[in-house]
Amino acid sequence: MTALPDCQALDAADVLASKRAEFKIPAGKIYLNGNSLGPLPVRALAHSLTLIEQQWGEDLISSWNKHGWIDMPVTCAEKLGPLVGVAPGQLLCCDSVSVNLFKLLAVALQLNKPRTTVVSLQDNFPTDLYMVQGMQSLLGAGQCELQTVDEEDLLDSLNREVAVLLLTQVNFRSGAMLDIQSITQRAHELGILVIWDLSHSVGAVPLQLDAWSVDMAVGCGYKYLNGGPGAPAFLYVNKQHQAKVSQPLCGWMGHTSPFEFSPDYVPAKDITEFLTGTPPILSLGVLSAALDVFADVTPAQLRSKSLALADYFLALVVARPELSELQLVSPVNAEQRGGQLAFAHEEGYAICQALAAAGILSDFRSPDLLRFGFSPLFLRFADIAKAVTVLADIVAQRRFDEPAFKQRQKVT
Ligand SMILES: Cc1ncc(COP(=O)(O)O)c(C=O)c1O
Repeated sequence: MTALPDCQALDAADVLASKRAEFKIPAGKIYLNGNSLGPLPVRALAHSLTLIEQQWGEDLISSWNKHGWIDMPVTCAEKLGPLVGVAPGQLLCCDSVSVNLFKLLAVALQLNKPRTTVVSLQDNFPTDLYMVQGMQSLLGAGQCELQTVDEEDLLDSLNREVAVLLLTQVNFRSGAMLDIQSITQRAHELGILVIWDLSHSVGAVPLQLDAWSVDMAVGCGYKYLNGGPGAPAFLYVNKQHQAKVSQPLCGWMGHTSPFEFSPDYVPAKDITEFLTGTPPILSLGVLSAALDVFADVTPAQLRSKSLALADYFLALVVARPELSELQLVSPVNAEQRGGQLAFAHEEGYAICQALAAAGILSDFRSPDLLRFGFSPLFLRFADIAKAVTVLADIVAQRRFDEPAFKQRQKVT
């Protein structure tokens, strides 16, 4: 077996190394959870103080115009353009992924009438399935019908009766990644519209939504984008689908002229039609500042570092016999996964807690998965080496057997 490279040498060669200083990472902590809740960007903290003290505190309501608050769902979203490969006018930052999915599902179903079937994967993130189930109970099964399939049956399940294909590119458990371009192309050949959930992709995996002719997409603002807990999500609607039908959560912010206060809803003729209520300015301000951290890095750099970190972690795990009881459930081939690795272990929850007690933050996904996220902007290869050493000690010494580590908390 060839010797593994030294972590110091890898850090010295890291072109993104200087980015770490742009985050507040608590001393003594190794954060392998940036795929779940990104850490605090220093500039987001600074900007939120300005936003609260000066813009809200001093300029009060005039800030809607003076500081461009009213346009923030668009101006914030435009910063995402290079990360997702999208030309202006097709992105918004608003609401949660769940709410945005509801809007897009409704539009896609209308656009593809009389088809009614929505196909998704059985192991998609549950909220995606729940939103279709909610739509189905609202409209009735004659208008919307969810069909879930296993991944190996996905392509065979597509036919000319399917209205919408709803998929998450990177599986939240295993990190396995679907090929957006080829699946979208196959769906289009059959007249199916595709909605992609990019929650575990954006900020770690390069995307070309326009070039791949993606119809619609959503994604989280609080994972790799580091927009803060409950940050606004984003949505994408390809220009060709805009202004054809209106979305059902048609609040005043989606009206063509909200400040006319007309009693009748007239949708905006551009992407702002997908807005609903008053934008959450404080959260948008934090997300917007967090996105500035990406301004001078390329998606290819993010991907390359994220995979290098994960591959290093995996190689170190494989090299330690005491970690052989961790069973990798992510693809071994880096090209087939997003920015995370997941391992099954019957004591996964307790191991995760023992790691946290040692300052190494990961997370656990029921029933038995330990998940590690390799967020490229702030992690060092030295962090990876340390994390695996501590993990090996916890497993070898069964430190996870401490009763306190087995007590399930509400959030895992
Ligand atoms: C793939 C995926 N979609 C959606 C969500 C949840 O989105 P939201 O809470 O913004 O509705 C998550 C949360 O982790 C997720 O992993």
